[in-house]
Amino acid sequence: MVAFTLPKNSKVARGRTHKAAAGAQRIKRFRVYRWDPDVGGNPTLDTFEVDLAACGPMVLDALNKIKDEIDATLTFRRSCREGVCGSCAMNVDGTNTLACLKPIDAIAGDVAVYPLPHLPVIKDLVGDMTQFFAQYASVEPWLNTDSAPPPSSERRQLPADRAKLDGLWECILCACCSTSCPSYWWNGDRFLGPATLLQAYRWIVDSRDEHTGDRLDYLEDPHRLYRCHTILNCTATCPKGLNPAKAIGEIKKLMVERRG
Ligand code: SF4
Ligand code: SF4
Ligand code: FES
Repeated sequence: MVAFTLPKNSKVARGRTHKAAAGAQRIKRFRVYRWDPDVGGNPTLDTFEVDLAACGPMVLDALNKIKDEIDATLTFRRSCREGVCGSCAMNVDGTNTLACLKPIDAIAGDVAVYPLPHLPVIKDLVGDMTQFFAQYASVEPWLNTDSAPPPSSERRQLPADRAKLDGLWECILCACCSTSCPSYWWNGDRFLGPATLLQAYRWIVDSRDEHTGDRLDYLEDPHRLYRCHTILNCTATCPKGLNPAKAIGEIKKLMVERRG
C-alpha cells in the first residue's frame, strides 16, 4: 500500500505573529513562509500586520517594509523593483509572479507568500536556482557562428527576422513558468522546462545563428523537450505576458519539419 502522508519536515507549522503598531490605519496581514537552515526544523508561516497607509502599493514594498521595520532576518531576493531583473519571483496568493509587479490591492484577504514551488529552499523565500541556470547554460544562450563577421560592421538582420525575436527576448529568467509546470516538478532533472526552452527557441529562430541544427539535435530527446505535455501553466503564469508553451510548440514543429 502506498503511503500518502507527507514527510514530517515538510509540514508548515504556525509561526510568529507580528501585530501592527498602535494607530495603524489600514492593516493587511501577510502570511510569509519562513525556514532557516541554521535553525532547522519545520518551516513556519509567520504573520505580519502591515499598515498599508504607510506602505508602497506592491507586495515587494510590503516585504521591504517588513524587513526594514519588523524583522530584518526575512530573506528574499530583489533588485530592480520594476519587473526587469527577475529576482523577486515567488508564489503570491497561490500564483507564481514577481512581487514587485503584484499590487497588494489586487489580493482579497490575507496575502500568502511562499517561495517558488518545487525548488529546494535555501532560506525563507529564496529558492535554489542552480539547476535552472545550469539548464539555461546548456542551450548555449549566445550567438553561435562559424563564418567570419563582416569587416568593421555588425552582423545584419532584416527587420522581419528581428521581429521573430519579439515575445522571446523579453524573458527575464524569473523561473515563474518552469516552477509552475507539473512536468518540470516531476522531471526537472531531465526536462529543460519552459523558460529554458523559450530561451533555446530564441536562438534557434535568430537568423544570424549558424548552429540551428546542433541546437535542435540537443533538444531531440525524450526528456529535454518532449516532457512538455502542453498543460499551459507556464503561459498562464508568466508575469511578462510571454508564451513559453507556444515557443515549445514551434520547436516541436521544426523537429517534424526537419524529419521531412
Ligand atoms: S518565460 Fe516568463 S515566466 Fe518564464 S522565465 Fe521568462 S519571464 Fe519568467
Ligand atoms: S505547456 Fe509544457 S512547459 Fe508549459 S506548463 Fe505545460 S507541460 Fe509545462
Ligand atoms: S525586483 Fe527585479 S523583477 Fe522584481
